[in-house]
Amino acid sequence: MRMDNVASSQTRNQAGSQAQSQTDSQASSETRNLASSKTQNQTSSLASIQTRNQTSSLASSETRNQASSKTQNRASSKTQNRANSLTTIHDNDITTSHKDRSIEICGVRWKNPITTAAGTFAIRESGKYYDYTKLGSITTKGVAPQAWEGNPTPRIAETPSGMLNAVGLENPGVDAYIKNDLPILENQDVVVIANVAGHSEDEYIDVVKKLRGTRVDMLEINISCPNVSCGGIAFGTDAETAARLTAKIKKVADKPVIIKLSPNVTDIVSMAQAVEAAGADCISMINTLLGMRLNLKTGLPILANATGGLSGPAILPVAIRMIYQVSRAVDIPIIGMGGVSTGADAYEMLLAGAQAVAVGTAALSDPVAPIRILEELEGYL
Ligand SMILES: Cc1cc2nc3c(=O)[nH]c(=O)nc-3n(C[C@H](O)[C@H](O)[C@H](O)COP(=O)(O)O)c2cc1C
Repeated sequence: MRMDNVASSQTRNQAGSQAQSQTDSQASSETRNLASSKTQNQTSSLASIQTRNQTSSLASSETRNQASSKTQNRASSKTQNRANSLTTIHDNDITTSHKDRSIEICGVRWKNPITTAAGTFAIRESGKYYDYTKLGSITTKGVAPQAWEGNPTPRIAETPSGMLNAVGLENPGVDAYIKNDLPILENQDVVVIANVAGHSEDEYIDVVKKLRGTRVDMLEINISCPNVSCGGIAFGTDAETAARLTAKIKKVADKPVIIKLSPNVTDIVSMAQAVEAAGADCISMINTLLGMRLNLKTGLPILANATGGLSGPAILPVAIRMIYQVSRAVDIPIIGMGGVSTGADAYEMLLAGAQAVAVGTAALSDPVAPIRILEELEGYL
């Protein structure tokens, strides 16, 4: 994080006068970004669909091999259960033609396994595009004890098959969230997951305490944001720190606690095991991968924060690999995310070991992506 600070203040000093023109060109390039990332999404959907048969047959043959293996370890029995439950759902369809896709995560029933990824869904805006109560759950943007302004601009950069963001968890604070956002959800039939941010243990605890007794059904603790100067990633890259925070949150939370893991670690499995041992009810993974782009004319970072989080189709294989590894090492459920832009991607993530899947960056270029992906996923279940 210290590197972030140094880099970002260097950028601000050096880029100084260029900041405005960068912002302007950023704004005008955003339209292009959307168009090109849409094309990239489409290309990537085609690619995923093309590879789908191959991927799923590889995955399912691996699953079968694992299930029939003599060493019936925790991993294979978990995989087998999941395969069974997918089969059961499918069988139900055939016999009753009633498509019950509901799942239960930590005692909370979702209508189906699709949710939104934190920071890419806004109750008011997304609500104009589709009926989000049709989703398994909605995950709202990270909230901190007080309002955060976020990082200086430019804070978004284009990348092949994805994007870099350094928004920095801009949010209105938990009081405003409770006062302005939660009432909109009061009579809506959908599971609500609040994403919690903080700079310190006390800040996380403050938010969790304030959310007690509210409309929120589950808490997702973001210990993995690479774009805030302290907190966030600092908790997400050290197993002991992550475990201590998890245990403290569990003591004060009145709802299931999901710990959101960072991919920016050497050993994701030990992070997952540490938070599970500390009492986490569920894991969500992955947050964005730390990345950077340079402006070819100035040689300076494009983002004012210098570094940012990479998301979108480019990170899908990393997410699949990490979910596959973690699901075989822990007993708690996993909400998978990272680069999902088609139903095929979501299905692949379920095969990897996730119980549910969140849609993030895909919704920034195609606002109805979560509901589209849910419909596409139906074809695979
Ligand atoms: C613009 C933007 C804002 C985000 N804000 C948050 C956030 O507030 N809290 C959080 O835990 N993750 C946040 N994320 C990370 C996403 O929830 C998700 O983990 C990540 O982007 C990978 O999924 P995707 O490739 O489908 O976007 C954000 C991502 C983006 C692109």
